[in-house]
Amino acid sequence: MQIFLDTANYHEIAERYATGLVSGITTNPTLVRKSGVDYFDFIRTLSRDFAFESISAEVDGKNADEMIENAQQYIKIGSEVTIKLPLTKEGLIACKILSDEGVKTNVTLCFSAAQAVMTALAGATYISPFVGRMNDNSFSGVELVRAIGGLYSAKRVETKVLAASLRDVHHVSRCLLYGADVVTLPTAVFDKMYNHVLTDAGLAIFEKDFKEING
Ligand code: G3P
Repeated sequence: MQIFLDTANYHEIAERYATGLVSGITTNPTLVRKSGVDYFDFIRTLSRDFAFESISAEVDGKNADEMIENAQQYIKIGSEVTIKLPLTKEGLIACKILSDEGVKTNVTLCFSAAQAVMTALAGATYISPFVGRMNDNSFSGVELVRAIGGLYSAKRVETKVLAASLRDVHHVSRCLLYGADVVTLPTAVFDKMYNHVLTDAGLAIFEKDFKEING
């Protein structure tokens, strides 16, 4: 069970890395555009400054050859750099070639168990079902994770299920229970994972009692 952060903000990452609870980072073009960083420099900086198990960098391209060509610059950065590819025919062709070469891969934008079958056959390191975007469209994101998790477990598939597009704490533990190996979280969701109103209430009482027993 692992937590990755889904952000392209260096300071957000550095602050949470210090907790020791974060194993990796996922990025996408939208997150990079919002943070205003240079994509390549950002991935290289993360690799230099932190010891993550996986840092996903998304590549584009009209076909598998172009995706593989775009992946080359990232592959040179370090073995933790994970090439993120779209769940399309060309993306899976690129995934198979890169996976056979020992490059870590993350196949993204998964919305069905059928797509997860093809991704497993392409030898992906990770598959990213988009839980929130399923829910946005009146499908159950956690049920998708359950379907993929059950299938991969029954068939002993090594591809790890990386639940993505998670927007609230409630879905995190359910995804992990239903078969996700990893959840990737916006920092706002990560921060909320610690919180519970009864913890705050209990702590207030304990702190008051501490004052009394310690004088
Ligand atoms: O990891 C994928 C994630 O960034 C997408 O999240 O909230 O844009 O659906 P969202």
